[in-house]
Amino acid sequence: MPTSQAHNAASAPSHNQLDTKAQAWSALFSEPMSDLVKRYTSSVFFDKRLWQADIAGSLAHAEMLAAQGIIGADDHASIQRGMAQITSEIESGAFEWKLDLEDVHLNIEARLTQLVGDAGKRLHTGRSRNDQVATDVRLWLRGEIDLIADLLKELQVALVDVAAQNVDVILPGFTHLQVAQPVSFGHHMLAYVEMFARDAERMADVRRRVNVLPLGSAALAGTTYPLDRERVARTLGMVDASGHPVVCQNSLDAVSDRDFAIEFTAAASLCMVHVSRLSEELIIWMSQNFGFIKIADRFTTGSSIMPQKKNPDVPELARGKTGRVVGHLMGLITLMKGQPLAYNKDNQEDKEPLFDTVDTLKDTLRIFAEMVGGQLNPATGQKEGGITVNAPAMEQAALKGYATATDLADYLVKKGLPFRDAHETVAHAVKAATTHACDLSELPLAVLQGFHPQIEKDVYEALSLRGSLNARNTLGGTAPAQVRAQIARHQARLAA
Ligand code: ARG
Repeated sequence: MPTSQAHNAASAPSHNQLDTKAQAWSALFSEPMSDLVKRYTSSVFFDKRLWQADIAGSLAHAEMLAAQGIIGADDHASIQRGMAQITSEIESGAFEWKLDLEDVHLNIEARLTQLVGDAGKRLHTGRSRNDQVATDVRLWLRGEIDLIADLLKELQVALVDVAAQNVDVILPGFTHLQVAQPVSFGHHMLAYVEMFARDAERMADVRRRVNVLPLGSAALAGTTYPLDRERVARTLGMVDASGHPVVCQNSLDAVSDRDFAIEFTAAASLCMVHVSRLSEELIIWMSQNFGFIKIADRFTTGSSIMPQKKNPDVPELARGKTGRVVGHLMGLITLMKGQPLAYNKDNQEDKEPLFDTVDTLKDTLRIFAEMVGGQLNPATGQKEGGITVNAPAMEQAALKGYATATDLADYLVKKGLPFRDAHETVAHAVKAATTHACDLSELPLAVLQGFHPQIEKDVYEALSLRGSLNARNTLGGTAPAQVRAQIARHQARLAA
């Protein structure tokens, strides 16, 4: 690696104080940092991913400094020119990131000064890395939340598609993982749509508190320059629904607040918890004992020893990665515990958990949308390779475990029995069916009438899976008519 001095001599128009970190602060420091301390305190190898936000924030700040007459128009133009070059250097991979320069902010500022001289040194007027980093993280996270919103929508669309194809497919609904009542598989899928819809709402809500401008708070107390913070907010799109700029109102809070990162990670954790619940069901449903569904081979792996195996690695890993994201939430919330105002270096530790949360959530949502709904085949315009549903296996399972026992009780209630008495009567019927090793619907009418004389032939409709489903025709119930209405509602909502 060329030394920074040599680099400087070759390309710098003026002396650059930021060439090494020991020089970055001031003449106050009498000894250089050890390599271990440099490595321990630097963040550039992970926070360089904030570079676009860092440059956007700097350009907005410089534009405002010029508009306020704090720097000259020529300096502003030089800063713009330098940042354009830095952008292309980073994009092409030519930019040399230096551990010595600690973080993304100092790396970019140092290069700017190398390129444009004194104008580069004027950029930091009325600014501190404390309000700079808080701004960068917020800008970056805002963009990621927008990508996550799209992915959450894709996953919901995939689930609604599967629901629409399977409204009339019946599987046993469980409570305590014991057969409870028959439900529509479409209805079951829509339960997850509700969860992911709430996740999308939570993300949108978090976004409102992410999209607030700390810049202009400087190190902690505000600044002596006549900054126009609202102008910067407007430039960066930090505006509310009616287009008004939104700016942090207390400089101490502005530089130290990481609530937005915690809130985001909490929303991400809950979303991963929903993914883990879906994963668990997919894993159970594709086990040989259930055989309800298949997922495409590309989401599974074989075993190195058991040739017959197809393991649901993707849902299993998603279930596992939920722990990692929840761990990041614990990490971030503990990071903030007991921190005195204002900025503390502790906050540099916010980045890796936040970045990993974003990466994990995005990958997981993307892969689940494809695993559930399939991939678009451009030739046919159809989605292919989503989950395959084994409707007969589901229905067969729903016929076990007396899933329609409640329907028999409801039938008797309609004949005038108090519900508690009906419940008791049906318990006797179930006991008899168990003895005969058959379903309630397979007991002869005479046997059923032995439990209650008012039982008539129409009881068999109530005891059928389809009769049971159709009877649950209340809002949010599993009757196919209700499920179709919900599908239409979701489709309209997701198309908007
Ligand atoms: N790299 C630092 C961070 O991530 C930037 C802010 C540093 N500010 C300071 N006064 N040391 O938080």
